[in-house]
Amino acid sequence: MLYSTALGGFWLVLGADEVREAFLRADEFGNYPTGVPPMAGFWPRKLIPQELDGDEHRRFRRLLIPFFAPAAITPVVASVRRHAQRLVRGFADADGVELVDALAKPLPTTVFVEMFGLPAERGPEFAAWSWDLLHSGDPARSAEVGGAIVGFLVDLIARRRAEPGDDLISALVRADVEGTPLSDDELLDTCFLLFIAGMDTVTSQLGVLFHHLATHPEHQAALRADAGLVPAALDELLRAFPIVPPARTLTRDASWAASRCGRATPCWSGRRARAATWPTAPTCGSTAARR
Ligand code: HEM
Repeated sequence: MLYSTALGGFWLVLGADEVREAFLRADEFGNYPTGVPPMAGFWPRKLIPQELDGDEHRRFRRLLIPFFAPAAITPVVASVRRHAQRLVRGFADADGVELVDALAKPLPTTVFVEMFGLPAERGPEFAAWSWDLLHSGDPARSAEVGGAIVGFLVDLIARRRAEPGDDLISALVRADVEGTPLSDDELLDTCFLLFIAGMDTVTSQLGVLFHHLATHPEHQAALRADAGLVPAALDELLRAFPIVPPARTLTRDASWAASRCGRATPCWSGRRARAATWPTAPTCGSTAARR
């Protein structure tokens, strides 16, 4: 484990056993606030279900499972494949391509607009919002775009309540958590997470995966020679280069993995962090530990 003073200070958990243990000690390693630095302040309440804990998390997670279970996702795969092929055909004969703009942004956006039952022509606008919210590096622009997304989602939820369709928002409007329908705030907290998870996560993860392939021609060649390797390669690339290293925040002081971790300290797991530019020396005074 490493401690970094960057981003407000956080523990970086690198060992598989330690990561597993943190997930199992869920009452000490809480889901709120998530992120490094913590996303509190970014959103006025908890993102649902990601920032909920224990039974509350289970209840809302159960609500979403049917929409992301294999039975629901399998029919979507053909459509995702079709969109991916269409986008790739657009640059297949080019000498080079800016892959994030040509594929990594438009592909998840297309899936998102279908899932939310939105007009396809608004896709580029949503992609730009998602990008500016998380990557503009300009707090004023992020706040402006965050407001636009919230306004859009509030309006969308109201429209789906008035006139439900067969999209995901309409299904959530009709759904209930143990007999109680979701409030407008709960729907918004869920939809906002789906918005950023559905678009930015996929865009950023595709970018990182293709960057690896672009810089490792031998891996490209292996996949081109045997497409049967793709599923295992994908698993391995996601494991090695995750753009969402799960973050937890300590709910109380804990002795753990030979370290003494303070309450409210975020922890972040992920192999990619090891290869990135994180400090290589512990910087947390006498409490720091490196393994
Ligand atoms: C390559 C794409 C994606 C990656 C790598 C990814 C990764 C992750 C990871 C690692 C978590 C767990 C975070 C934690 O435990 O702290 C998570 C949670 C979640 N993701 Fe994704 N995700 C992706 C795409 C999506 C998409 C497309 C959606 C929905 C449209 C989505 C919806 C969610 C939700 C709702 C949660 C919270 C689950 C819970 O708390 O029970 N994700 N994602």
